[in-house]
Amino acid sequence: MEFSTVVQKRKSIRDFDGKPIDPAILRDIVQEAQWAPSWVNSQPWKVYVAIGKTLETIKSEHLARITAGEKGNSDFPHAARESFGTYPLKNMQALGEHLGTFLKGDFSEFSAAQSRLYRCGAAVYITIPKDAPEWAIMDMGGFEQTLMLSATNKGIASIPAYEFVKFPDMIRKHLGIPNDEQLAIGVGLGYASDNPMNAYRSVRVSLDDMLVIKD
Ligand SMILES: Cc1cc2nc3c(=O)[nH]c(=O)nc-3n(C[C@H](O)[C@H](O)[C@H](O)COP(=O)(O)O)c2cc1C
Repeated sequence: MEFSTVVQKRKSIRDFDGKPIDPAILRDIVQEAQWAPSWVNSQPWKVYVAIGKTLETIKSEHLARITAGEKGNSDFPHAARESFGTYPLKNMQALGEHLGTFLKGDFSEFSAAQSRLYRCGAAVYITIPKDAPEWAIMDMGGFEQTLMLSATNKGIASIPAYEFVKFPDMIRKHLGIPNDEQLAIGVGLGYASDNPMNAYRSVRVSLDDMLVIKD
């Protein structure tokens, strides 16, 4: 695939068809993501992938906990929207409006989709060392995006989601993640279902609102 096509094709998919992904393909995707840059080549990330039985176990436990109304307790503290700053907050509000128009004001399917993200074929968890500096979070973000672009290039849909890491204790338990690593983000990989919600495409601010080039 052309690079620009890969970039354009990657978007968050919120309803998967549950089909598994060949572990050899998962290995290729993670290996490609390893080419992401990092501070002094520190490569602070580690990757844990739940598939098959492990994915099923995590999926049921996740559903039970959200059904019980349990609040998330992610390793990266949950941040109120306002704490991101005025400009990002405005963009978040714009997403809400744009999505609202697409959904004709009915957010119920979108909200319900959060509990179904585990219909992905593989849940990929990325960790960085506990107490790592902010630079490591930046490195991890580059790794995460490279991973999703690699998946897109192989015809695999994705979503990065807080939802995957809101109960880190159970992810740790089922995947044997040591306590000196913090769960940064989870990425769902899989094949998109034909749910109409998957047709949603978010927008971006105009280039001139965020770019300054000065000669
Ligand atoms: C760190 C991070 C956490 C996210 N968490 C969620 C989530 O919990 N649920 C969800 O539906 N989308 C989640 N998203 C997806 C964003 O909503 C999405 O990336 C954004 O709206 C832009 O849309 P796009 O990915 O389709 O381009 C998350 C994205 C990032 C980068």
